[in-house]
Amino acid sequence: MTLPSKLPDVGLTIFSVMSQLAAEHRAINLSQGYPDFDVSPALIDRVVHYMRQGCNQYAPMTGVPALRKAIADKAAALYDAVYDPETEVTVTSGATEALYAAITAVVRPGDDVVIVEPAYDAYEPAVRLNGGRAVFVPMTFPGYRMDWEQVRQALSDRTRLLILNSPHNPTGSVFTAEDIAQLKTLVAGSDFFILSDEVYEHIVFDGRRHASMARDPELRRRSFVVSSFGKTYHATGWKIGYCLAPAPLSAELRKVHQYLTFASNTPIQMALADYLARHEDHLGLSDFYQEKRDLFASLLGPSRFRPLPCEGTYFQMVDYAVISDEPDTVFARRMTIDHGVAAIPPSVFYHQGNDHRVLRFCFAKNDATLKEAAEALCRI
Ligand SMILES: Cc1ncc(COP(=O)(O)O)c(C=O)c1O
Repeated sequence: MTLPSKLPDVGLTIFSVMSQLAAEHRAINLSQGYPDFDVSPALIDRVVHYMRQGCNQYAPMTGVPALRKAIADKAAALYDAVYDPETEVTVTSGATEALYAAITAVVRPGDDVVIVEPAYDAYEPAVRLNGGRAVFVPMTFPGYRMDWEQVRQALSDRTRLLILNSPHNPTGSVFTAEDIAQLKTLVAGSDFFILSDEVYEHIVFDGRRHASMARDPELRRRSFVVSSFGKTYHATGWKIGYCLAPAPLSAELRKVHQYLTFASNTPIQMALADYLARHEDHLGLSDFYQEKRDLFASLLGPSRFRPLPCEGTYFQMVDYAVISDEPDTVFARRMTIDHGVAAIPPSVFYHQGNDHRVLRFCFAKNDATLKEAAEALCRI
């Protein structure tokens, strides 16, 4: 039997393709965005503790109460935002599940969803599977800033949802206070929702402050704010995330979550609940990654690659225009095979590709790995 595909143009993600190529050619893998660092032994001890205590059955559908409370406390402390842990905080199996559940809860056939490009690859297929239509708005190039006038032009009475992401993957750009002011002007008098992907909320550089949708009451009332413990605790494989949203929005998200995964990993939720109070772990992350960013950029100094501004996340966009005129997909492949370093070609984050000569490197790696990679890049 054959099955007519609901996503005929979707293949293996670029992350799998580049990681596979890196493995085949024994290249240093700076493509996929996962950290090289160990999870804190204290956090692992808590997980083991709860497993041995017998906390191995289904968690409550909405999440372990202590973790929901700890998440609400964090939102209050960092963003001055009051979320009720009972009705407005939902623990999910990674941010990916929260994004899918939010999109499914909101989008109906015929709805438009505005997506800013370059865009993380999970958004658009979820919109399409729910019968929605993605309307793409590019960031400026090469500055990678929001173009709010273009966003305004993309809005119509069919718009149900605007998907935002700051700190931004892949560009590393971060919303400013001016972005938030422009967004507030844009939403005034409208009734679309916002899905705000904030998984890199704790990785912002040079004294910037993360502009969470939770911080502003006007934006908060229409927003699903999604985050993930994977990025924060070097534990992307644990797949625990969460969504903050006002009670009526959370109620609809939970209806989807209930039948998508029902509940997420119990002992890890219990451990994270204990651990979240240790603010030094998430609040020290910006400094930790800022040093990595600066090290990688300085190691690239003698090379012909030109690092672009990076304000947050653990991704560095790098211009290679003086080295090659090849499209980024071709150059990234050749760099992996011939020079032993894998990166992501950002054109795949655009629905129609582009002709920018830029690659995305993940610098969430040990210094020795970054040095080895940079030495290879300096030889190109
Ligand atoms: C922007 C963005 N959103 C969501 C995710 C997925 O997060 P999780 O691993 O918690 O599902 C990622 C992971 O790379 C990401 O970069």
